[in-house]
Amino acid sequence: MHLDPSSLSTPERYKLLIGCIVPRPIAFVSTISPDGRSNLAPYSFFNGVGSNPMMLMFCPANAADGGEKDTLRNAKPPTAGGVGEFVVNLAVESYQREVAAAAEELPFGESEFELTGLTPAPSTKVRPPRVAESPVAFECETVQVVRTNPGEPAGGNVVIGRVVAIHLAEGLVNERMHVDPERLAAIGRMGGTSYCSTRDRFDIPRGRAALGDDA
Ligand SMILES: Cc1cc2nc3c(=O)[nH]c(=O)nc-3n(C[C@H](O)[C@H](O)[C@H](O)COP(=O)(O)O)c2cc1C
Repeated sequence: MHLDPSSLSTPERYKLLIGCIVPRPIAFVSTISPDGRSNLAPYSFFNGVGSNPMMLMFCPANAADGGEKDTLRNAKPPTAGGVGEFVVNLAVESYQREVAAAAEELPFGESEFELTGLTPAPSTKVRPPRVAESPVAFECETVQVVRTNPGEPAGGNVVIGRVVAIHLAEGLVNERMHVDPERLAAIGRMGGTSYCSTRDRFDIPRGRAALGDDA
């Protein structure tokens, strides 16, 4: 089967992206509006960008009316009317239902912290609170927003942020900064309403050694 994306509808293209690019890590992004109201939402179009300096990205698509989701409104740079800061908390098993619940489309200014019962904790270098229950929080300053189709429904936006502070739960990493995946218990997103855990793992050496002795 060969498909030309231009012959597909936007929902079909979306379903292929979220069904094929799996599993996806989930950024549980907390932001604050310029007038001080906090917001929390999950974003699985999310990844690291580079470690010198430490950068990450997530992608809030345009809403059905072509407008910006609240997280983008808040995280975009002050020159564009936002606050220019956000916190990436991680999605983990202990509050997996709350992660999904925070995708509820509340009116701008109503907080998903109240909806989910998760606890806002003060950040150290940015104004948006972090999620106290999260074993990891990356405080970020927005560096750039790349817009692939401004104002159009489902157009993409890449928010690139520089990590300015890191919070880690006690015992999560060793002295060499190796993270214990069992303690982290991150969840990932599959297509539709499906998720996966990170409890089933295996190791493979890098390079030629991966192919075994005879390779
Ligand atoms: C696990 C999960 C991952 C999601 N990932 C994304 C994503 O990467 N991009 C996006 O635009 N919406 C994503 N959504 C939908 C948003 O979370 C949803 O539109 C939310 O209401 C946005 O909130 P906000 O307007 O407060 O930013 C995801 C939803 C869930 C449940």
